[in-house]
Parts: sequence; structure tokens; C-alpha cells
Amino acid sequence: MNIIVSSSKESLAEEFAYMLKDMSDTGEKIHVALSGGSTPKVIFDYIAEELGEEIFWDNINFYWGDERCVPPDDSESNYKMTVDHLLSKIDMPEENIFRVLGENDPEEEAIRYSKVLADELPIVNGIPQFDLVMLGMGDDGHTVSIFPYNIDLWDAKENCVVAVHPDSGQKRVTITGKIVNNAKSVAFLVTGANKADKVKEIVMLEGDYAKYPASLVKPTSEELIWYLDRDSAKNLDFSE
Ligand code: 6PG
Repeated sequence: MNIIVSSSKESLAEEFAYMLKDMSDTGEKIHVALSGGSTPKVIFDYIAEELGEEIFWDNINFYWGDERCVPPDDSESNYKMTVDHLLSKIDMPEENIFRVLGENDPEEEAIRYSKVLADELPIVNGIPQFDLVMLGMGDDGHTVSIFPYNIDLWDAKENCVVAVHPDSGQKRVTITGKIVNNAKSVAFLVTGANKADKVKEIVMLEGDYAKYPASLVKPTSEELIWYLDRDSAKNLDFSE
């Protein structure tokens, strides 16, 4: 596990952006699962504005680690957020973009998207393999759309399942732990003081860490990087 603490969201975005550029420079097609919510907005803005012309977008396929079951133009849509902050500003071929069809029946879409992953990604250890899975973390320790109350979904045998947000009741399609932990590399991008307690518990394996889905992210490749800002890292003690 590597931890990169940046002085600001913008410098965190820069760290991640150049990591993505380096990955795309290999000349091989890379398959990347994007996270949703609000954290990626500043990161996607930075990538579009600073590296939009430098990254060879033909080499990258975008997928989503989770998506809200809403239409693609809904303000809640992770796809819409990505269009607004990145896809509308870069020259990525349409055929490289594999969105979760949030407008579909959730159960049917979970099955369809599971097949998309099986069809599009290399199969390693019998499981579709992403080159990179980008993850956020909620202040309750959830990641993708697997929440503490339904942490058992992490071990589902499917590639994707339907989850329900504990507060809003919103349905979501989410990839499961087998997909996340089979990735070549996983990047947590977590900012804000409201995440600091959970970051400490999970990174330091303290308190109730085992109850949080984010603590189950342990890629077989052992390539896990936490991209943090000062606020989310403020409780970490690097002297230990
Ligand atoms: C989603 C995300 C989710 C997100 C965390 C953090 O669809 O909401 O994929 O897992 O990464 O909830 O969200 P913020 O970045 O908004 O804090």
C-alpha cells in the first residue's frame, strides 16, 4: 500500500493525472473503472485542462465502478458528472466509453454490465481485469456502492450487483470485490476532513475498520495507492 498526501485537491489531481498519463503511454489499450460522487470533479477538470491534449485517449477505455440508476442526463448520474468535467472536454472515441445504462431496469443492467466487463476486459484468474480501478470512499467507509450495512455484497459471485443507498434508497449498479481486487492497480482518491477518521481506521487497521467495505480493498496485485489531501490524511501518524 502506498500513500501519497498532497497539499491540496489540485495537487492530488496532478499526481493522479500524471499517473493516468503514464499508464496510457505504454501504447497498449488500458481499461479504467472510474469512480463517481464529487471527489472526481476537480480531478477530471485538471486532467481535461492540463493533460487533455497530452493523453492518448484512443488507448483508454472508460467504465464505471458504480452508477446511480438514473438517466444519463440526471444530476445524480456519475456518467453525467464525468461528461461535464472530462468527456465533454477531451477527444475520446465514443466506442471507448462503456457507461452503465442507469435508465435500464437495475437488475437487468447489473447482468448486462457484468457481461460487458466479461466481454471487454482481459480475463485473469477467471475474472475480468481492469488496469486501474479508481475508487472514492464515503465518510461511512463505503466504496463503489457497497455500504457497511450490505458489506456482504462485496463477496458476491457476480461481477456487478444492484445496491441500495442506505439513506436515499437510491438503487445503484456496482462492481463487486472480486473485480476490484483483481485489478492490476487500485487508486483511492479521498479528500476532506470528514473522511479523516475512516482513513485512519482503515489505513492503520484500527477501531471498526473491518466493518467498512473500503477496508476490503486488497488487490491481489498489491498495487494499491491512497491519494489523500492534507485534510483527509490529518489523523495519520507516519512516525509509526
Ligand atoms: C458514488 C461513488 C461513491 C463515492 C463515495 C465518495 O457513486 O457516489 O462512486 O462510492 O466515491 O461516496 O463520494 P464523494 O467523492 O462525493 O465524497
